Amino acid sequence: MATVVVALGGSLLRPEVEERHNWLQSMVEVIVASVESGSKVALVVGGGAPAREGIELAKPFIEDVSHLDRIGIAATRLNATIVREALSEGGLAVSRKIPESTGEAVLELEKCDVVVMGGTEPGHTTDAVAIRLAIQSEAEKCVIATNVARVYSQDPSQYPEAKSFDHLTLRELQEIVGPPEHAEAGTSQVVDPVGVGEAVEHGLPLDVLDGRDTQVIKMSLEGDDFEGTRVRD
Ligand code: UTP
Repeated sequence: MATVVVALGGSLLRPEVEERHNWLQSMVEVIVASVESGSKVALVVGGGAPAREGIELAKPFIEDVSHLDRIGIAATRLNATIVREALSEGGLAVSRKIPESTGEAVLELEKCDVVVMGGTEPGHTTDAVAIRLAIQSEAEKCVIATNVARVYSQDPSQYPEAKSFDHLTLRELQEIVGPPEHAEAGTSQVVDPVGVGEAVEHGLPLDVLDGRDTQVIKMSLEGDDFEGTRVRD
């Protein structure tokens, strides 16, 4: 049975996103369809607004970055719980637990069609968790569902002349996002450089796409042509 791992950026669940109930409903339908076509799906959910708020509130009092990371991790698990409950309500056999490590998630995936988790330990973001889980569960690829249409050469909000890519090699993506080191808690690149480092090491294919449109996620899961960036070895 094919396994696919999806990193769902926490910004996709943010309250500002218009029609967020429709988005969640449609996300459930996409996962139901994927399971019906014979896949196992692991979702790794980001921290979004609660992570940013919590980290911002505590920052002036906390020196150790890993302590701020723990606040971010708590937020990712809150968001994972929201998505887990919605999927379970949609009739899917979802792991009851929110795994706290990728090893635990691999074991849960052996028992259930769907597993939902957030972060694991300080030092990276949920993209890196999703990539690690994809490697450990021998998934065919890892989908990075974010809130931009493609990978750009630079941040397009700051550099309007930035170039976007349909295809990249894993090493080219590493050059764009920078060396595999953890940035300050709560700061974010299109894909976590720590995760990209592990994908490079294992030759794991990545599909980077705009998760605000759940149909784009569906097309990637079904192996169809989708709008976004395909990152291959
Ligand atoms: P996110 O995965 O949401 O990271 O984790 P992000 O890239 O900053 O945000 P979005 O979702 O793409 O908008 C939020 C924060 O939680 C901590 C990190 O500080 C991260 O920035 N975190 C998360 C960890 O330390 N370890 C984890 O496994 C996950």
